[in-house]
Amino acid sequence: MKIKVLVADKFPDKYIQQMKDLELDVIYNPKLGEKDLPEAGKDADIIVVRSTVVNEETINSSEKLNLIIRAGSGVNNINIAAANKKGIYVANCPGMNAVAVAELAIGLMISLDRFIPDNVNDFNKGVWNKDKYSKGKGLKGKTLGLIGVGNIGKEVAKRALAFEMNVYGKDITRIEGIQIKDFSEMDQLLALCDVVTIHLPATPQTKGLFNKQMFSYMKDGAYLINTSRQDIVVEDDLLEAIKEKNIRYACDVFKGEPESKTGEVSSKLQNNPNIYVTHHIGASTAQAQDAVAEETINIIKHFVHSGVIEHWVNRAKKTDAHYQLVVKHYDKPGVLAAILDVIRQGNINIEEIENIIFEGGVAACCTMKLKAAVSADMLKTMRENSNVISVSHVEI
Ligand code: 3PG
Repeated sequence: MKIKVLVADKFPDKYIQQMKDLELDVIYNPKLGEKDLPEAGKDADIIVVRSTVVNEETINSSEKLNLIIRAGSGVNNINIAAANKKGIYVANCPGMNAVAVAELAIGLMISLDRFIPDNVNDFNKGVWNKDKYSKGKGLKGKTLGLIGVGNIGKEVAKRALAFEMNVYGKDITRIEGIQIKDFSEMDQLLALCDVVTIHLPATPQTKGLFNKQMFSYMKDGAYLINTSRQDIVVEDDLLEAIKEKNIRYACDVFKGEPESKTGEVSSKLQNNPNIYVTHHIGASTAQAQDAVAEETINIIKHFVHSGVIEHWVNRAKKTDAHYQLVVKHYDKPGVLAAILDVIRQGNINIEEIENIIFEGGVAACCTMKLKAAVSADMLKTMRENSNVISVSHVEI
């Protein structure tokens, strides 16, 4: 039976064909939404999405789902906790749309400084106002603060340096995955910046990061750009800061963003002269979508041919393993089973295991990460096995 792939979001036709060429049963339905997925994804082995939400119900109703690929960067639309419970892999395509998002961030920065959307609007209404729109500060020599210096932040930095801006960054990579908030230097960084641009993932650490306190550190009249995730900025606190400090804000993400690609939209950010909102189009250039699609095909190819998951995001960063046992043995039937039996009798949980074969197929090496220590008696039993070459056991 062919592996079934459901692509539940917009995906370039050329790459749908490439998927089909991999001898996969490909269902392409870009109109599917969160509510349709539990039924539509029931018998899929692989689900590919962009921003379509993969909720707990979809994961729990799936009969053989093995891999969810986020054809993009942020994985906050996938219920990873539910996927973890069923052993379903989640992978993404990091960095593939970074340039497109950086280009939009720069576009929004220039728009804020030169009032481009208002210029255009007035012109279309028959209003000429060179006077009003001649108040741009210019970006050269201004200080830019990058909040997040990952793939996107770095691309923004390159472009801002070409504009001769002074670029500062707050790198969060060293704290990611750790349950602490380390935005300790923001009071110093934000106070320096004429322009601040956010390039963070949505995590418990970044939720609500731009709140009253952060706005209090910002300069009067500074520009803030958010092309990352909506819940990083507290919209009510932003509206206050606009009133009190004349902050100008441009974003590609906002609370209540519609799931569908077209329709009506309603937001607290509408009709405020200090705010420009785009339609979550950061990653939506042909260049970025091709790069993301190519990476998605790559992930599927590796998975199908070797079982390896590229950009696997829900692998445990830390397991409960405290000891490592390395057994070199002759590559014969039953040898490994005998070793595992000793571990079973000791009631020790194996957290990770890998068995590799040396060239020639005579010897093999099995490396196990164990929750508890193997006793001296157990080690003796293993060493007495005539098919075991050596045993080493260390605390890790
Ligand atoms: C991402 O996380 O890659 C961006 O937010 C793009 O989202 P989209 O693929 O739904 O446009």
